[in-house]
Amino acid sequence: MSLDWEARFSPYGRRATASEIRELLKILDRPGIISFAGGIPDPTFFPTALIAEAHRRVLEDPARAGASLQYSISEGFPPLREWLAGHMRAKGVACGIDNILITTGSQQGIYLTGRLLLSPGDGVLTARPTYLGVLQAFTGNEPRYGALSALTGEAPVDAKFAYAMPDFANPTGESIPPAERTALVSGAHAHDVVLLEDAAYSDLRYSGAPRPSLLALDLERRGSIEDTRVIYTGTFSKTIIPGLRVGWVVAPTPVIRKLVLLKQASDLHTSTLTQMVLAEVAARLRQSHLAMLCENYGARCDTMLRALALHMPPGVTWTTPEGGMFIWVTLPEGLDGAQLLAEAIELGVAFVPGAAFFAGDRKRNTLRLNFSLCDPDTIREGIARLGQLVARKTQQS
Ligand SMILES: Cc1ncc(COP(=O)(O)O)c(C=O)c1O
Repeated sequence: MSLDWEARFSPYGRRATASEIRELLKILDRPGIISFAGGIPDPTFFPTALIAEAHRRVLEDPARAGASLQYSISEGFPPLREWLAGHMRAKGVACGIDNILITTGSQQGIYLTGRLLLSPGDGVLTARPTYLGVLQAFTGNEPRYGALSALTGEAPVDAKFAYAMPDFANPTGESIPPAERTALVSGAHAHDVVLLEDAAYSDLRYSGAPRPSLLALDLERRGSIEDTRVIYTGTFSKTIIPGLRVGWVVAPTPVIRKLVLLKQASDLHTSTLTQMVLAEVAARLRQSHLAMLCENYGARCDTMLRALALHMPPGVTWTTPEGGMFIWVTLPEGLDGAQLLAEAIELGVAFVPGAAFFAGDRKRNTLRLNFSLCDPDTIREGIARLGQLVARKTQQS
């Protein structure tokens, strides 16, 4: 008889459950399905040749080859952190390499921040809906979820930190307006709450003017990164490639020092070779790469918005993102995204039902559509099919 493993799992381990989306993606990525479900970049835009060349350059360089395959420090490869300090400075965040930790994807930065700050019962404020990966990362810590909007209100706030995606949020594609960003930072001070800023999509802007990060705003107010209350996570996943799994955290040094220890306990360090390769690629990749991504993804976003306007029946609304990878659709009350998905799959179209992105009080009449993966013709075809289905369901309800 096999062991009763469930009984042996810790309460933390027991609380880990499969993400609805990951389970869903296994079914949805079948050939022949037009999938707006994933949240992934288009691999045809990956700078594959540059990445291959960078691996070769590092491995064929006698001065670097050994070190690239060796254990290294948990903080991360110093030249990559130097490059990131410059990258952050260009965004109005004056910081040094001691304020930067390289992580295995920004997901690890989010996870470790939860581990560092949260005790069972602590409050975490998030947008509603929010990034599913953040709910997964924190669930084991048994937080109480509250609304991000509480931070800008008058009522007392009992929360350890607030998680925000100021630019092109997953899943809605929406951005926080400039005045609200300032209000969030002021609210964080007023209510003595730490801000966890997730900038995963910030560089994928297709229209409108760039807005300051919460960290830049707080730094402007406080004068030094050491006096800020923002923990910022960034990633190469959306602008270069996700598969090498490199992200970073920017924070005051006492926070970085502790995160380093937690990371050390978890994976010692992010792959040395990978960090060396990314240091090369980030420095050599021209601005034109990001411009190419923005042009293509921007055109796909436009195509999807136009197709929605053409094919969705009255009563359906959606967000108009200025960047990122997602559009959030709200169906008339009474329709359910999950039920719609079952029928959409029959028509060869997939998306993620919006309910998955709520910690509680789920809005079931919502869906998340990804526009970064499919080419414009496929987007038009998929939205036409989806529009016909929604029109039919709306008439029936
Ligand atoms: C909002 C958001 N934050 C963080 C991540 C994690 O990305 P990565 O770990 O690849 O940096 C994702 C991935 O999709 C995301 O959508």
